[in-house]
Amino acid sequence: MATANRGAFSNRLGFILAAAGSAVGLGNIWRFPFEVGLGGGAAFVVMYLLFCFLLCFPVMVTEVAIGRKTQKNAIGAFNGLGFKNWNFVGKIGILAGILILSYYNVIAGWTIGYFIEMVSGNFGISKVFGSYTSDILKVGIYAVIFMSFTSYFVSKGISGGIEKLAKVLMPSLIFMILCVVIYSFTLPNAMEGVKFYLIPDISEMNASVVSGALRQAFFSLSLGMGALITYGSYLSRNDNIVSSSAFITLADVGIAFIAGFMIFPLVAYNNGGDMSMVQSDQAGPGLIFVTLPGIFETLGPGLGAFVGGFFFLLLSFAALTSTVSLLEVPVSYAVDELGMKRQRSVILVAALIFVVGIPSLLGNGASDFFTNWFKMPGGSTDFTTLAILTTDVLLLIGGFCIVLFASYIWRKENLHQELASGYEGYLGSFAHKFLNFTICYLSPILLGLLFVVVFLNNYFGISLI
Ligand code: PHE
Repeated sequence: MATANRGAFSNRLGFILAAAGSAVGLGNIWRFPFEVGLGGGAAFVVMYLLFCFLLCFPVMVTEVAIGRKTQKNAIGAFNGLGFKNWNFVGKIGILAGILILSYYNVIAGWTIGYFIEMVSGNFGISKVFGSYTSDILKVGIYAVIFMSFTSYFVSKGISGGIEKLAKVLMPSLIFMILCVVIYSFTLPNAMEGVKFYLIPDISEMNASVVSGALRQAFFSLSLGMGALITYGSYLSRNDNIVSSSAFITLADVGIAFIAGFMIFPLVAYNNGGDMSMVQSDQAGPGLIFVTLPGIFETLGPGLGAFVGGFFFLLLSFAALTSTVSLLEVPVSYAVDELGMKRQRSVILVAALIFVVGIPSLLGNGASDFFTNWFKMPGGSTDFTTLAILTTDVLLLIGGFCIVLFASYIWRKENLHQELASGYEGYLGSFAHKFLNFTICYLSPILLGLLFVVVFLNNYFGISLI
């Protein structure tokens, strides 16, 4: 087996931090709060939590197991198990990874830009968000910078690049988030924000909430596109997949949940406790980029620059551990299957993704054509459309196919055998029964049904719930 020179995580902690780093990203801090805002607050949060633990955790375990068993990339893993005609799942995954990174990198670039603006006290930026994102020279340069950072760490390999990065950035990120949460709680009206966030209003529950929560759960846990097959392929046989995945899920959900405590009190403070604003003009992708800088401004020039700079630095740290995982998926394919050198494939793939991302770069005001050309319900610009489309369609199909494949094609006995490696006493345990039920029955059935609900709701406006 050509596994010796593929690289590997140096230990279980390295894997957990890298995978948690992949999961925790703009999805938790930028996207989760605005999806909560759009989805009606706590009703959304309840659905999201249910999906994460009952549907997504089993998908994560399955992905990691497939990766570790085969020690191969997202496409090679299916070939390695002897089911070449199922490698379309890996192909969908690589396509999803390329598309997601193409727009994710643009937003990640904004976070560097905003860091610089905040530190230099330019809070007015929030009022001209539209013209900021259409300043193609600026956002273009930031996008290049971000892609270069990502490429650098991926080119250093698994233990020397990705793992090292996560070991430094993840603890710093958690520390920084806690600082901002504590600060937010000291602001007037903070509790109004917390109430909006935590008290569910069941009347808010409808197909859009369900679809938003499912989409968010998949995106946030980096599922359905082979990122965790790829990371799992660098994991040792002696490590426990089930407990590691549980830890990664908890870390991701925990950080998204805590990010809510960071954002909603700030919004409540800004609006004098009126949270209805979140569902209207402050909702959507601008929540962080439009609303927050205005709030930092009210703190005065010195403190505002400090808190604002700190916040956007934190956001770019979170983004970087995710972008490296997105780039690693196609790169590991190129290295394993096409026999390319890591450095070379990083450069080629990163350049390709940058080019694919040009519509997203131009689609936020810089070009009329790209800003307005492709509208769909739920997507106001090319780029939100792409965000929703890749997640709703590609990630959900990917996740559905992965559990279906593992249970009925590769067969569940083999899956459980792999999970037992590194987990003494797994066979016959509660974890075994729970995973057997969720991976073989609950996840495929619910994912299949929900996919239909989400698809009809988002693309045809038909609400089945
Ligand atoms: N989970 C990441 C986030 O929350 C995004 C991501 C999706 C990363 C899919 C890898 C794969 O920001």
